[in-house]
Amino acid sequence: MARLQAEHVYKVFGRRPEDAVRRLEDGASREELRADGTTAAVIDASFSVDEGQIFVVMGLSGSGKSTLLRTLNGLLEPTAGSVRFDGQDLTSLSDKELRKVRSEKISMVFQHFALFPHRSVLENAAYGLEVQGVPRAEREKRATEALHLAGLEGWEKSWPDELSGGMQQRVGLARALATDADLLLMDESFSALDPLIRRDMQDQLLELQKTLKKTIVFITHDLNEAMRLGDRIAVMRDGRIVQIGSAEDILLTPANDYVASFIQDVDRSRVLTAGAIMVDVDEVLGSTSDNGEEIRTAEDFLAAAPATVPLDTPVAELFGPCSAGTVPVAVVDAAGAPAGAVPVQRLLSVLSEGGQPGGTTGQADAAKTDAGQKTDAAKTDTPKPDATKTKTADTRVVEAEAAQAETAGTKADADGKKTAADGKADVQPDGKPAGMTGGKPEGKVIAGA
Ligand SMILES: Nc1ncnc2c1ncn2[C@@H]1O[C@H](COP(=O)(O)OP(=O)(O)OP(=O)(O)O)[C@@H](O)[C@H]1O
Ligand SMILES: [Mg+2]
Repeated sequence: MARLQAEHVYKVFGRRPEDAVRRLEDGASREELRADGTTAAVIDASFSVDEGQIFVVMGLSGSGKSTLLRTLNGLLEPTAGSVRFDGQDLTSLSDKELRKVRSEKISMVFQHFALFPHRSVLENAAYGLEVQGVPRAEREKRATEALHLAGLEGWEKSWPDELSGGMQQRVGLARALATDADLLLMDESFSALDPLIRRDMQDQLLELQKTLKKTIVFITHDLNEAMRLGDRIAVMRDGRIVQIGSAEDILLTPANDYVASFIQDVDRSRVLTAGAIMVDVDEVLGSTSDNGEEIRTAEDFLAAAPATVPLDTPVAELFGPCSAGTVPVAVVDAAGAPAGAVPVQRLLSVLSEGGQPGGTTGQADAAKTDAGQKTDAAKTDTPKPDATKTKTADTRVVEAEAAQAETAGTKADADGKKTAADGKADVQPDGKPAGMTGGKPEGKVIAGA
């Protein structure tokens, strides 16, 4: 069941945002608006996320990911459209009601998680509960549990600067888990971590999600991360969602050249599964088994196949069996019934496709909408996987600000980012909690970097 629903969400920064929405609806482009000094950060975004799902939003720097995420917890009010969580329209709530929903049901984890240097790890993890007014004994109990879940058992009494960057990021995760929020919003939460630790955190999140079944929206610019974590992935470009689908949908039928250019570096053999590439069992019937007998029924096929694998078997594991003999590998469903076949030719063709835009399975619309921009996309927008690695200090300030606004329950100024971005890289946001200080490079903010 859909717990989170965004419908036709627009977020426009600048003068007369409502007019801009009307112009966008009438077909104006983002560039036309920009010429007038208006930024259409999110344009007509619609999607829903079920309980227990990880919904990943991916796209180049500036494509609108963070802005979209901030509309999901009411930190930014959409210029048009609605966001519903558990059926409740966040856009219709008063500030007070919104604060309540935000402190009890929604948690945010940022790339650079600002920890309080003069509070213990436990107190840091309990911060969200403190804001909610949970009594000390209760919040320490819940924060301790959350730290255990995040793999920090035994570190409760330590100070943030005794922890590595990866561990500090875990404290951020623990803080989010401690509040019992059902909706976790994660903005590049693992991007600042080095690759091994990052993978570790991804595993941990997947492991936690098996039991906690939160509703998670996870932002990343890394497609491999998106594919590992995402039950569904939305690809954003210039403020618009250009494709939504599973990792396999995106690999097998990228909606346009923009999406296709992201997937060039993905290891297809690890993402694709037997179930996604199999052909119909009928295609095998009538052929001959290795010992010369005709394969007439699905049962004959199961008996003759070099291997029988479940639907979710990674394609990488099919090479061995596929190259043994001439009969395709049999794919079976959970009940052991034949579901399909993987002939070696199919395996090779899928792996050599290299992400040609397709757009046949439900993505046709997205492909069409963007058709006019195909050549442009290829020329100007080749994804740079590391585009956001070089996050500047101003972004960190904004994130710290948003984190505080979130925990303190206040709505961020719509122009907050702009102000912070205007060359005030080292300036601290106003209203920071006591003890919270500047950016890591200056040795002040203890963040997960
Ligand atoms: N408060 C604001 N005022 C004006 N423009 C803004 C504001 N916040 C975001 N923008 C603009 O909206 C667009 C989308 O920004 P956003 O931060 O959502 O992108 P992003 O996909 O998260 O990028 P990144 O990967 O770099 O984090 C950008 O052009 C940005 O400059
Ligand atoms: Mg962002």
